[in-house]
Amino acid sequence: MQAIVSARKIALGIITVLSLVLAPIAQALTVGFSQIGSESGWRTAETQSIKSVAQQRGITLKFSDAQQKQENQIKAIRSFIAQRVDAIILAPVVETGWDQVLREAKRAHIPVFLVDRGVKVRDSNLYVTKIASDFVEEGRLAGAWLAGKTSGHCKIVELQGTVGSSAAIDRKKGFANIIDLFPRMSIIRSQSGDFTRSGGKNVMESFLKSENGGKTICAVYSHNDDMALGAIQAIQEAGLKPSKDILIISIDGVPDIFKAMMDGQTNATIELKSALGEPAFDAIKDYLAGKKLPKWIKTQGDLYLPDTAKAQYESRTAM
Ligand code: AHR
Repeated sequence: MQAIVSARKIALGIITVLSLVLAPIAQALTVGFSQIGSESGWRTAETQSIKSVAQQRGITLKFSDAQQKQENQIKAIRSFIAQRVDAIILAPVVETGWDQVLREAKRAHIPVFLVDRGVKVRDSNLYVTKIASDFVEEGRLAGAWLAGKTSGHCKIVELQGTVGSSAAIDRKKGFANIIDLFPRMSIIRSQSGDFTRSGGKNVMESFLKSENGGKTICAVYSHNDDMALGAIQAIQEAGLKPSKDILIISIDGVPDIFKAMMDGQTNATIELKSALGEPAFDAIKDYLAGKKLPKWIKTQGDLYLPDTAKAQYESRTAM
């Protein structure tokens, strides 16, 4: 009996010591996050999601805002490597030019997780996985909605996102896939507004000027909601009614676009999930636990029209 009691005591002692030693290891995860910037409402929501999930999970997050510059992201990644973080989350501003720095992370045995946008690298093993939506599909959905709305007859102006970003490249490609099927649909002007509200407004102003004050424009296809919100302002200032004189479809599903929809100023948006914190840290946890991950963890978003705008706005702004 005495022997059983002492064996139990020893076992309990070992468990206590092990939990004391292992608990700080489990909690002491440090992750570097290289964010693009704060160009849009969507981007701010994504940053917020990653920061708050890190905090909830007791993860130390080293955050770096690149202010839209790839060179700043490369510097941030090198600094994360020097600080020996456990993992890196990268939202890449553009698709190309990452091979060298990702090789450096790989050599340092630091896994890299892409969020939101993709990269084009020679060796796909340079990153673990990409947690993102399918931008080509988003473009196709936008094209299909517009083709239906206009019976395949529409002159379109396109507000592109940041030049060289996977979001802009693939949203353009997906949209073209659909409208190319309709001989009476065409893109008459296309320019980058860099995913910003002011960029969208400036570019739309120049489209309106060069298109007879807007009279020849049937619709705006905007690669994000913020540029669409800028375009709405430009259309109003030109004396036209956005959503009526000129149709508008954009991508993101931020609260402000639902507000504009409620006010009758825009026609449709396609949701891009900004809550990437949970799936990103789940992927890091699973990878560090030795699980095999798919190369692309896809997020889904739906098309929203004015009939649900109020409910969407309220659910997105509720505290
Ligand atoms: O990469 C996703 C895009 O980047 C979002 O649609 C846009 O709002 C953001 O800035």
